[in-house]
Amino acid sequence: DAPLRLGIAGVGTVGASLISMFLNEQERMMQRFGRQIVVTGISARSRSKDRGVDLSDMTWFDDPVALAKSEEIDLFVELMGGEDGPALASIRAALELGKPVVTANKALIAKHGVDIARLAEKTNTQFGFEAAVAGGIPIIKTLREGLGLAHVQRVYGIMNGTCNYILTRMTNEGISFQDCLKDAQELGYAEADPTFDIEGNDTAHKLAILTCLCFGCEIAADQMYIEGITRIDQADIKVASDLGFDIKLLGVAQLTSDGIEQRVHPTLVPKTSTIAGIDGVLNAVSLETDHVEELLLAGPGAGGDATAASVISDIFDCARGTHVPPLGLPVDELVPYDKARMR
Ligand code: NAP
Ligand code: HSE
Repeated sequence: DAPLRLGIAGVGTVGASLISMFLNEQERMMQRFGRQIVVTGISARSRSKDRGVDLSDMTWFDDPVALAKSEEIDLFVELMGGEDGPALASIRAALELGKPVVTANKALIAKHGVDIARLAEKTNTQFGFEAAVAGGIPIIKTLREGLGLAHVQRVYGIMNGTCNYILTRMTNEGISFQDCLKDAQELGYAEADPTFDIEGNDTAHKLAILTCLCFGCEIAADQMYIEGITRIDQADIKVASDLGFDIKLLGVAQLTSDGIEQRVHPTLVPKTSTIAGIDGVLNAVSLETDHVEELLLAGPGAGGDATAASVISDIFDCARGTHVPPLGLPVDELVPYDKARMR
């Protein structure tokens, strides 16, 4: 078979890790996938920046939309970020041409996911976003394909690696909020604008995507209570600890008799609970269901390599031609957010 040719827009934390895996692990790719995968085109803002990976065999595109449309690529990977702008334009351009798209961009999916899924359906093109929620944890695949007939009744968890890293270090090492945030940025965990992490919006984006997949409704990131961790200080952590609790930033969505409730806020969790043991950059997502009771999926929630692993899993699925509706159900079968009710 001819190699599968990728175009990657965004060569930052995630993009550079992904390219490094394709350059260094071709043998493993062949064993797993049975076909060579090559990165033929890339796009980023600065052409001269050293990204720690050899980009010399790849065609450079100043314009990500031109990369998405290029005949040199079979599949487009969007790793730039941003809820509109070039990320949205390039994803749309690729899907309109029937080119599969993989992205890690939760902000964009939270805002435009339903429209993009509709476009992907219309053009019969795969659209993958496993890496958008909880980094390396295969939560999207689990929700789309792994629950059999079970109904999810409640989904909750730690969905932001930066916040969990900050809270863990503030708790265990007494380090200041600002120093922990700086380290999280240096480690590549934080968003380009870290207020998305610490104010809770990144968790909200992820939760809204999970709500859609769990409850078969449209994505509504604006329909939730959101409180981040910026007001947590050492005094809060000490009081909580003295009472036997840790503080975690949780996202929670559940069906009630009045509809769906979505919320993001710092939460006291008993030190003896499983969720309290999810430390550092780890994330954990709990699915409470009727048939399989509670499933807890835990793993690295941010960082280049963990996120790139999820991107690769989507690339494999696209390349195999695996066709599942991106949001779990065909878009026309999703109910409006405010019409979702306990079934
Ligand atoms: P990043 O390190 O800031 O990298 C962003 C890349 O996109 C950079 O290479 C940048 O170019 C490029 N870029 C930005 N705007 C562009 C434009 N207009 N045209 C062309 N290239 C552009 O970000 P990241 O951490 O890799 O995150 C990328 C995406 O993955 C985001 O959607 C993020 O939310 C998501 N994500 C990140 C993680 C993580 O742990 N970091 C985990 C899961 C999901 P320059 O390098 O030239 O500036
Ligand atoms: N900034 C995000 C986080 C990246 O810290 O969880 C992973 O989505």
